[in-house]
Amino acid sequence: MKTFKQLESNVRNYIRVFPTIFDVAKNEYIYDIDQNKYLDFFCAAGSLNYGHNNPLLSKSLIDFLEQSLVVNSLDMGTRVKQEFIEAFNTIILKPRGYKYKFQFTGPTGTNAVEAAIKLARKFTGRSNVVSFEGCFHGSTIGSISLSASRSRRASSGVDLKDTAIIPFGHSAEMAKTSLKCLNNYIHNITASKDLPAAFILEIIQCEGGVRKANKAWLEQLFEIASEINALVIIDDIQAGCGRTGDFFSFETLNVHPDIVCLSKSLSGFGLPMSIILIKPSVDVWQPGEHDGTFRGNNLAFVTAKKSLEYWKADDFKKTIFKHSKFIENELRKIQSSMPLKVREIRGAGYLWGIELSKNYDAAELVNIAFSNGLLIELAEKSTNTIKLLPPLTANHSSLVEGINILNSSIKNLQN
Ligand SMILES: Cc1ncc(COP(=O)(O)O)c(C=O)c1O
Repeated sequence: MKTFKQLESNVRNYIRVFPTIFDVAKNEYIYDIDQNKYLDFFCAAGSLNYGHNNPLLSKSLIDFLEQSLVVNSLDMGTRVKQEFIEAFNTIILKPRGYKYKFQFTGPTGTNAVEAAIKLARKFTGRSNVVSFEGCFHGSTIGSISLSASRSRRASSGVDLKDTAIIPFGHSAEMAKTSLKCLNNYIHNITASKDLPAAFILEIIQCEGGVRKANKAWLEQLFEIASEINALVIIDDIQAGCGRTGDFFSFETLNVHPDIVCLSKSLSGFGLPMSIILIKPSVDVWQPGEHDGTFRGNNLAFVTAKKSLEYWKADDFKKTIFKHSKFIENELRKIQSSMPLKVREIRGAGYLWGIELSKNYDAAELVNIAFSNGLLIELAEKSTNTIKLLPPLTANHSSLVEGINILNSSIKNLQN
C-alpha cells in the first residue's frame, strides 16, 4: 500500500474502499496478493458483465495477438472492426428492429456522452440539455454539467452552463413532480432556440441508487421530446450490455431513443471501448468533426464481437431472468427478516440496489462485506444504497454464497 499512498494522487478512490492489492481474477472471483479470495459483485463498476478473464473472450484475444493484426487504428477500417459492426448489427440491432449508425468515440463512457450531447446540440441548433436528479454520466466537463451533485459540479472548477436538471420520475409521485417541473420549464421559454436540444437519461439510474424510470413517465417524456423536436439520449453505459437481463435496458419499453451511449461491458473483457448508436436521420456530423486517438481499439473489437455470441440464442437471457427472480426473492427475504435495517429493494436482472434505513450506513455495509470476502459498491452516498452487480456468468452457487455473505454482513451492521 506504501507505493500507492506515497506516489498515487490523493484522488484515488476505490483503493480506499477495498484496501488491498488485487492480483489474479477468474469469472466471479478475485484474489489479492495474499491469496485472500473475494466474490466480486462489483465487476469493476459494471464493466465486466461476462466475468474476469472469460475464457471464450481471452482465447479470441490471444488468437488475435498471435496474428500480428492492427491494434490501434483510430477510425481507419480494419477487418475486426468491420466484423464487430456486422455482428452487432445482425445479432443485436436487426432482431430488435433497430436501425442505428455507429459512432466510435474515445474509449470511455464519458467520451460517448460528450459526443452524444455535442451531436444533439449540432442537430437541433440549441444549447440546453435536460438531465435528471440522481443521474451520473461521467467526469469530463460536459458530463459533469449534467449532474445535480453539488460536489461533482464543484470539482469541475468552472461555471457549468446550458443544462437544466429536473426531478427523475422513478415513482408515480416523482413522475408527477417531474412532469410539472418540465412543463414549467418549457412554458417559461420564450425563444425556440432556448428549448432543449435533448433529454439525457438512464432507464435505471445506477449511481443514483438503482432507481428505475416509471414507464408512463418515460413514455410521456418521449412524447414531449417529440412535440418540441428535442432528441432523447439513453445512457446505457452501465445498465446496458445485458445488465438488466435484456441487451438494452429499454428494449421492452415502447420507446425508441435517438441516440444510445454504450461503453463499460461493451468489449466484454474490461477493455476500453465506447460507441454511440445514432438514428440515421440524426447523423449530421461532418467528417472528422469529433476526433480521438483511441477510437480504434481493435483488442476491444475482438472481444466485443465474441461476447455477442452470448446473445445469439435465448438461453443466456433466460438464465439471467431465472437467476434474477432468485436474487430478488432472496433479497426480499433479507428485507422482511430485517425490516428496521433494510428500507427498500430495487432493481432488475443482475442489477440490484439495497437501500438501508437512515439509522444505518450503506458505506459501513460495503466495509463489512469486504471483510467478509464480498465486493459490492456504494451507489451515490446520499442514497444510502448499496449496489449488486454480479457477473452475468456467475454460477448459481456463487449467487447463493454472495447473498449469504450479504445477509450476515447486514446482520452485523450496527447503528
Ligand atoms: C451511466 C453512466 N454513464 C457514464 C459513465 C461514465 O463512464 P466512464 O467512467 O467510463 O467515463 C458511467 C460510469 O460509471 C455511468 O455509470
